[in-house]
Amino acid sequence: MKEYVTTSLDTHLFFGRIMKEHSLFLLAAFPAKEMEYRNKANWFRDRFEKALERTVQLANGMVSEDVLCSGEVFTEFTEMAERQTRKLTKIPINVQITQAEKRLRSGHGNCQDKRMEQYIRHLNQNILHLLNGLIAFKEKILQEVLSCNLYTANYPLLIEHIIREAKLYRQIVTTLEEKGCMPSKDLRETEMFWNQIMMEHALFIRGLLDPTECELVGTADTFAGDYCRLLEEAREQDCRTMDTLTRETLETTEKYRDFKAAGTKGITCCDIRSVILPLLADHVLREANHYLRILQTEGKWRG
Ligand SMILES: [Fe+2]
Ligand SMILES: [Fe+2]
Repeated sequence: MKEYVTTSLDTHLFFGRIMKEHSLFLLAAFPAKEMEYRNKANWFRDRFEKALERTVQLANGMVSEDVLCSGEVFTEFTEMAERQTRKLTKIPINVQITQAEKRLRSGHGNCQDKRMEQYIRHLNQNILHLLNGLIAFKEKILQEVLSCNLYTANYPLLIEHIIREAKLYRQIVTTLEEKGCMPSKDLRETEMFWNQIMMEHALFIRGLLDPTECELVGTADTFAGDYCRLLEEAREQDCRTMDTLTRETLETTEKYRDFKAAGTKGITCCDIRSVILPLLADHVLREANHYLRILQTEGKWRG
């Protein structure tokens, strides 16, 4: 039960915010005439924001220390990035949730509390329902964009990418509901999933930077190449080489996290020319922090 409560809350703190931001990125990128798409994206944005708010209410003294410290829930830039994105887009963002997250304490509270288990069950069911809707919505957008019936400023690859992230979240919550614990995933599979995500972030960043930002474009290209190579090696690897590969992935991702943090700082300080929303920069930084925590946890398990 402890694992069910804590793992559910840990998962929602990261992924719930990610889903609310995907909805915002979708909303921000539609033309003014697409009122139906805009309204629907805004509806998901609002629902995931409320689900995150509920998660934070329940999370105090109930979540893992390493999740709170990892920088996947919020970073030093999140609040600033939210304020700027709200100002630039006029899309509502509840900054109080971020402030409440900064006050969260870790712990295992009273997990034997039957009421707590019921609250989590209810939250998980609500989120699963929302996820089914959001995944269907993203798939519909992708299909309409690819058949040239709909315009969005988001790349088709970005839409595919956020569909995959939502499906991973759904898979985790489904397993939590069915088995009461985290799905035990093959490390190789996990690494291949996140290495592809990291590679695509580099491709998005290089494509959204102003063409005059030559140095940053070059660095983004290098990271895309690094992850592409790691993916190829993982496809060919056997068990003996997996440890080496994981170590290399960890080293690359630490450098990549620093690059993303510098980029987020540059974008929030208006020092970088780009079409990247400040919150998108912080979003991909948090995803790198999440992946780093997974890699570090796996490393500890293997000694
Ligand atoms: Fe994402
Ligand atoms: Fe992502």
